[in-house]
Amino acid sequence: MSQLDALLDKIQDLKEESKANLEEVESLQECEELRVKYLGRNGEIQELFDELGDLPDEDKAEAGKGINKLKSFLQDRIEEKKEKFKRREKEKKLKQEGIDVTLPGRSRGVGKRHVITQVNDELTTIFKRMGFSLALGPEVESDYYNFEALNIPELHPARDEWDSLYVDDEHLLRTHTSPVQIREMESQEPPVKIICPGKCYRRDTPDATHYPVFHQVELLWVDENLTFANLKYVIRSFVEEFFGPEFSMRFRADYFPFTEPSAEVDVMRPDGEDWLEIMGSGMVDPNVLEAVDYDPETYQGFALGLGVERMAMLKYGIDDIRLFYRNDLRFLDQF
Ligand code: DAH
Repeated sequence: MSQLDALLDKIQDLKEESKANLEEVESLQECEELRVKYLGRNGEIQELFDELGDLPDEDKAEAGKGINKLKSFLQDRIEEKKEKFKRREKEKKLKQEGIDVTLPGRSRGVGKRHVITQVNDELTTIFKRMGFSLALGPEVESDYYNFEALNIPELHPARDEWDSLYVDDEHLLRTHTSPVQIREMESQEPPVKIICPGKCYRRDTPDATHYPVFHQVELLWVDENLTFANLKYVIRSFVEEFFGPEFSMRFRADYFPFTEPSAEVDVMRPDGEDWLEIMGSGMVDPNVLEAVDYDPETYQGFALGLGVERMAMLKYGIDDIRLFYRNDLRFLDQF
């Protein structure tokens, strides 16, 4: 057999062998192994080319053609197989990692307003709808605004009711929102029709109904011809809207230095037995009007003050004020 025929046979054998091997590959990895085996730098195709060098010159062209044909045949087939396995692997990966639309979404946990803020907003919204506009005052207040101008002189026993937190000799953390009444009346002529929400402070030891910081909403309306009937109407409308029409309500005579007459307002749940106190109120004392240079002969007014925590406790049946400030999400999430 001539050298040429022997080489051509070898090419033919290699083709058969490689075809059979290609049939059996089962992975990208195995494809690559075959590529190295046949087409690698020391692969079998290269070996054939090496042998080509030993052939007589006139046979080189024919043998070279045969080897090149086998080479490109292998290149094509291996590439084809590789593509096939790549596609398969991709599909498999997609299936594993693909979006499962049945999974629950990831929530962003955007949070919400604290229950006290919610109730505060609800209260102020009701009064705003009645035409009262928002007014705010400082939490560090002077003795004059917190007491004096509100008809609570230095030795007045009402000062004892509030264990105040003093910042220096003349300033304290306000014990109520009533000083905003004075500030607003000083800064404008009547009519004054305002609502003032805000934090207040008292030196109370925390227990189920006391906390050293709490929230109040103050209301003041000063104009000509205002009477106790207007006060009753505003409060009754508010109670009906906030608690619902099925709550009963009553006025009870009381005393506040800055109002005359003064009344405490109580409500009772539809199924209740006890009257629950919800706010203090009254006609603005003439001494208070005089303190801001309003003429009590021309102007009258009424005011009220309520505790936001207390309203929230009554509305939701919460029995301990300290719960509002523990920051326990199991509690806060309920509102
Ligand atoms: N400032 C009073 C307090 O903290 C509440 C209050 C009572 C406010 C009667 C008023 C009022 O405006 O008229 O106890």
